[in-house]
Amino acid sequence: MTNRHCLLTRACAANVFSRAAWLLALMTAQAAATQLNAAAVAVPDRYAADAAAQILRQGGNAVDAAVAVAFSLAVTYPEAGNIGGGGFMTVYIGAKPYFLDYRERAPLAASSTMYLDASGNVIPNLSWVGAKAVGVPGTVMGMWDAQQRFGKLSWRQDLAPALGYAHNGFIVSQQLITRRDEELNGDFSPGATNFRQYYAQLQAGAILRQPELEATLKRIAAQGPKDFYQGQTADLLLSKMRRAAGLITREDLIKYQAVWRAPVIASWNGYQVITAPPPSSGGIALIQLLKMKADLAPAFNGVALNSAQYIHLLAEIEKRVFADRAEYLGDPDFYRIPIRSLIADSYLARRAQEVNVFKPSQLANIKPGLPESHETTHFSIVDRWGNAVSNTYTLNNWFGSGVVVDGAGFLLNDEMDDFSSKPGVANQFGVVGRDVNAIAPQKRMLSSMTPTILTQEGKVALIIGTPGGSRIFTTVFQVLCDLYDFKLPLPIALAQLRVHHQLLPENTLYLEPFQSLNPELEHQLQARGYTLKTQFFSGDIQAIQILGRNPVPGADPRGRGVARVIQ
Ligand code: DON
Repeated sequence: MTNRHCLLTRACAANVFSRAAWLLALMTAQAAATQLNAAAVAVPDRYAADAAAQILRQGGNAVDAAVAVAFSLAVTYPEAGNIGGGGFMTVYIGAKPYFLDYRERAPLAASSTMYLDASGNVIPNLSWVGAKAVGVPGTVMGMWDAQQRFGKLSWRQDLAPALGYAHNGFIVSQQLITRRDEELNGDFSPGATNFRQYYAQLQAGAILRQPELEATLKRIAAQGPKDFYQGQTADLLLSKMRRAAGLITREDLIKYQAVWRAPVIASWNGYQVITAPPPSSGGIALIQLLKMKADLAPAFNGVALNSAQYIHLLAEIEKRVFADRAEYLGDPDFYRIPIRSLIADSYLARRAQEVNVFKPSQLANIKPGLPESHETTHFSIVDRWGNAVSNTYTLNNWFGSGVVVDGAGFLLNDEMDDFSSKPGVANQFGVVGRDVNAIAPQKRMLSSMTPTILTQEGKVALIIGTPGGSRIFTTVFQVLCDLYDFKLPLPIALAQLRVHHQLLPENTLYLEPFQSLNPELEHQLQARGYTLKTQFFSGDIQAIQILGRNPVPGADPRGRGVARVIQ
């Protein structure tokens, strides 16, 4: 790091010192940490796997590899990989847990009524298509903060693979084209976005080179976040905002900061579960699900995985989690979030007792429990020193808001839709919220992203996460149950049926089989009073299990992910 790269020069001297001290401490901790037989990655595409392998072989650690993967995906996985979005990174390094929040923030000009018409009704699409849907991006600052704190290689080294892909091009996959077509035929009307201009001509199998994005990445490699938040890239972004009637201003960009937060940590099944705190609902929801299921052990006893009774019990638990999510969760910088109460054993034991073991509980009986007082990507990495990164980041929808920063070659997010535009009115994932997640200037919108690491006796045992909007934590939860309650091998666990209930619509179960759904199971669930819907997308899990000293990575068969052991 050079002083030129420091955004806040005042902090620079301290940073240099703390970085040197950190590296020394890290080397000592690494010497003591478990050496694994290899490093491993589970990432959403093969270019990201190659990028990680290159960095790990150069002596980089899991954080260096994560930065390389994040920037690579911004080039080769434009539907969700990004520099125009934001996310969360859970890190376990030198045998200590960390959590980095680089979620987008509402622009200073945002207001709680910005998506309502004169009669107070939500204007369709405005919060997820076009420039008004864009939150202030956090990815570049987040990657910089993680890299400067923990990276062993230089920032430039970590960005090199992404620059290579932007310059030389990559082969466009059929999945990217399918997703592109969904958006072209769906929300991205030509008037509201310039998406068509950049992506309509793409064809599967063709090589895509991105010179504008390459120039942007070169500036970021040379200047760090200063370019993105104050330099030429900032100028291009602001000029796009002005032309497309977006809200982000220079002040918004200058004020953006990523935040190191205490992760949510809980004991479960002999493991420490290290996961995402607010402004994600994901970590709290995951712990609630795991503990309530454990509390209901007698009811689950002998119940077969993904039988009608199993799915009913999961649905009952999930409904209660979504009731709490809507009532209590939002940006912790704006509200005091009762994290400890929400994951307390006594509270969850009481909540579990409310579950109706035989039939769906009535909606009216599911209240938030405390007393008064679509499209993302995830990657998991472990290095040979046993350090781990679990990172989920997003543009929200596939290809975000559909707005490309002209001259800079990257897409902007539509994360503003994760706010509650109006209390009780569902967003595009069908989830509702209240005042705690209302829009306010500089606030972070509530997320469901759940980058998670499990440890046992101080050593990493599992790294896991997925995209899927409101289905993220129910998906992670089910894979954990498949792995640890049913002892399934990772590839088998990833190919299981996934089910999801999010309280509303009432008694509606979303099901996503990997292949086909058993008609008998459908019949049994309908007989219990459930309406069945096919999930539109229930995850693309990227996970690594550590068995002894061997990392065993697994990529969800639903996506184009790659699981690779790196010697
Ligand atoms: O932060 C969130 O929870 C959402 N913006 C994530 C969106 C997502 O996962 C869409 N993927 N299918």
